[in-house]
Amino acid sequence: MSAPLLFTPLRIRGVTLPNRIAVSPMCEYSCDDGFANDWHLVHLGGRAVGGAGLVIVEATAVLAEGRITYGDLGIYKDEHVEMLRRIVTFMKSQGAVPAIQLAHAGRKASCETPWNGGAAIAPDQPNGWQVVAPSPVPFKEGDPIPHELTVSEIREVVDTFAAATRRALAAGFEIIEIHAAHGYLAHEFLSPLSNFRKDQYGGSFANRARLALEITEAVRGEMKSGQPLFMRISCTDWAAGGWTIEDSVELAQLVKPLGVDLMDCSSGNNIATAQIPFAPGFQVSFAERIRIATGLLTGAVGLITEPKQAEAILQAGQADVVLLAREMLRDPYFPLHAAQELGVSLSVPKQYLRAFPDSTRRN
Ligand SMILES: Cc1cc2nc3c(=O)[nH]c(=O)nc-3n(C[C@H](O)[C@H](O)[C@H](O)COP(=O)(O)O)c2cc1C
Repeated sequence: MSAPLLFTPLRIRGVTLPNRIAVSPMCEYSCDDGFANDWHLVHLGGRAVGGAGLVIVEATAVLAEGRITYGDLGIYKDEHVEMLRRIVTFMKSQGAVPAIQLAHAGRKASCETPWNGGAAIAPDQPNGWQVVAPSPVPFKEGDPIPHELTVSEIREVVDTFAAATRRALAAGFEIIEIHAAHGYLAHEFLSPLSNFRKDQYGGSFANRARLALEITEAVRGEMKSGQPLFMRISCTDWAAGGWTIEDSVELAQLVKPLGVDLMDCSSGNNIATAQIPFAPGFQVSFAERIRIATGLLTGAVGLITEPKQAEAILQAGQADVVLLAREMLRDPYFPLHAAQELGVSLSVPKQYLRAFPDSTRRN
């Protein structure tokens, strides 16, 4: 039997992922004013110890008002870099490639943390602020009305993505992911169900895609040619009249020549009432479709929980990497366990060798 693809390195530009298992970005809502802390070091560092080839740090806000909650991670101040650098350095020491997802939550900002109910917080309430969006339409009925961004305010948002990229690279991140999924700002512009503008940022597909393309150009413009750029999109709104997989293919075709290397294929979360057909691997077909149609690398995510399932996705040519979120919370050592199940010897930290006697030493 040939070596499992899951444990076959993947070179993207000048960066080589040691395996194809990625920790999907996961908000921890555990910051004060955007600053990473010991929680992030242990949470992210622990997954790197567990053997993930790629660890993508949670949605990290490019502006304070772009945070989903007051606890979100941020990269809107130079002072945010120092702790991020410490975390990056540790992840690299474990052989993981560190990536960061840059985000602006748009109309879904200014919320409570999930464990406090997750409700929108009005701008005049403690921990709340005025949210912004392409159009003055809230995510859910009864939520505060977003401020409709002016064209000059849109330009400022694009500039903050560039500044955030500079800080992320200064912290040592090797891959940047643009968050254009899950009903946050870039997705709100893409979808005809959240963008009702009449100017150059609304109406036609080209106009709705303009912000995503401008962010891509701004971020890529800060990166060296050897540094990979990913984009996460929601491949469908799962709602009539909304964003579709066909739109996603078209967007992928537009961002490819701008220097996006991999499309991270998620779905949904822009329409509160959408019915999502959750099932194992339910979004994998989107990654396959974009991969075949565009030749871009793709990432498959969503209810991938088993090593053989992950390997089958890669073997079938549906994606180039698999991203796992909740399974990585349940089992930070998923990559080590997957290696054992698939009959591969994965290197482990020297401190752990006695628990994995057949493994090689990693550090
Ligand atoms: C606690 C938690 C936080 C999340 N935060 C983010 C995030 O910051 N950015 C993002 O794109 N997706 C986020 N997601 C979605 C995951 O990255 C992933 O796409 C989703 O959970 C489906 O994968 P899974 O079935 O492996 O959990 C989050 C999911 C969880 C469970």
